[in-house]
Amino acid sequence: MNKAAIILAAGAGTRMKSALPKVLHKIAGLPMLGHVVAALRGAGVERIVVVTAPSGQPVRDYAHQLGCQSAVQEQQLGTGHAAASAAAALADFSGLLLVVNGDMPLVSAAVIEDVIAAQSRTGLALLACNFADPAHYGRVLRTPDGYLDRIVEYKDANAEERRITLCNGGCYAADARSFFRWAGALRNDNAQKEYYLTDVPGLAKTEGTQCSLAFADEVAVMGVNSRAELADAENKMQTRLRNAAMTAGVTLTAPETVFFSHDTKLENDVEVEPFVVFAPGVTVRAGARIRSHCHLEGAEVAGGAIIGPFARLRPGTSIGEGAHIGNFVEVKNSRIDKGAKANHLTYLGDANIGAGANIGAGTITCNYDGFTKARTEIGAGAFIGSDTALVAPVKVGPGAITAAGSVITADVSPDALAIARGTQSEKRGWAAAFRARKKSERK
Ligand code: UD1
Ligand code: MG
Repeated sequence: MNKAAIILAAGAGTRMKSALPKVLHKIAGLPMLGHVVAALRGAGVERIVVVTAPSGQPVRDYAHQLGCQSAVQEQQLGTGHAAASAAAALADFSGLLLVVNGDMPLVSAAVIEDVIAAQSRTGLALLACNFADPAHYGRVLRTPDGYLDRIVEYKDANAEERRITLCNGGCYAADARSFFRWAGALRNDNAQKEYYLTDVPGLAKTEGTQCSLAFADEVAVMGVNSRAELADAENKMQTRLRNAAMTAGVTLTAPETVFFSHDTKLENDVEVEPFVVFAPGVTVRAGARIRSHCHLEGAEVAGGAIIGPFARLRPGTSIGEGAHIGNFVEVKNSRIDKGAKANHLTYLGDANIGAGANIGAGTITCNYDGFTKARTEIGAGAFIGSDTALVAPVKVGPGAITAAGSVITADVSPDALAIARGTQSEKRGWAAAFRARKKSERK
């Protein structure tokens, strides 16, 4: 069957106290909206409409970037009103419709599939969850035969209803045409004077359609409404990503200190020491080792390579097989070939480092003149002496050596020695004579 979805993302997000729309706040390096879209796509939903506030241009831009349509909810009159605002965008659609809150980043494709399966039983389904602490979620009341009786919003609930722990998980499924008929009939006679999506099942029941329940654990349905909940969701997502990495054969010595992005790819037998951050776009191949206190972003690390401790890999970096990047070394937009080593205190930016080259401590590529970036090329087997400044664009031929402390401004021929530093001279006995003179002056 054709599947479409509406993602509700027009809420003011007041509790976040942010200039950034709530659904653009990131979890594991990806905006919350991106996580919800990924879960829907994973469950085979092709067409997605994101409902936004008039001021939500950044949300619309991001939605379009993800291949979604957008709709505008002119006034924030509630979740039911928001869903109805997508009717025009889906006027030509018939099939199964999912309606999902945009602020539930931990939802997964499997959970969406469970809601779809529940819908096929009665024609309408709601995702529900038992919470240890149900806080401000809408409470779910059931009929004796296990269907949804009604949802009571926390603000409208009496003391007895507030004791219920089964809650609304914020995901619904129905036939699209039926759903828009029900959503169009919602009223706002409640504590918040809003059109509640949660009243849709009641309207369906008047037509004889029962609402089935699908169940998820509380991690999958957690809603993010404040910075504290954002941090909590991040923590839960990190736990999920750490467990997935370990299941895939990655060693994490202290998993709770390693931070992943949604797209981090670590192959089996990768070893990650404590306190490592993987920002987006990182792939680490089988058998590589990431030592403590490294930060990696937009980088690929080949098997057998050793990174860190205390190294930073920035976007556009590729580290070859068995290469070593040591402490206080930063690499940006550079290719480090097989077996090359930069072990201490170095900046390699916009550089190609040939196989087996050795980069001495304190080497700096001077890649930027304040206007343009220029490349440095170091040939295979070259030896860059400590404290060499490589003023790009510049090439050091294969097998060449640069003397320690050199400022290299011209290309170096293969197998040559380049020395570009002041020549040392010596004044015998000068230091002793100097001390004697200073002492006699003091008397
Ligand atoms: C909502 C549910 C609650 C459920 C909880 C699950 C309603 C009335 N309540 O409460 O039963 O337990 O989610 O997380 O549905 N939005 C709009 N336009 C609006 C209002 C909201 O697009 O006018 C969007 C928000 O951007 C958000 C989603 O709808 O993504 C849910 O709104 P939110 O204010 O977070 O509702 P909750 O109080 O969390
Ligand atoms: Mg919410």
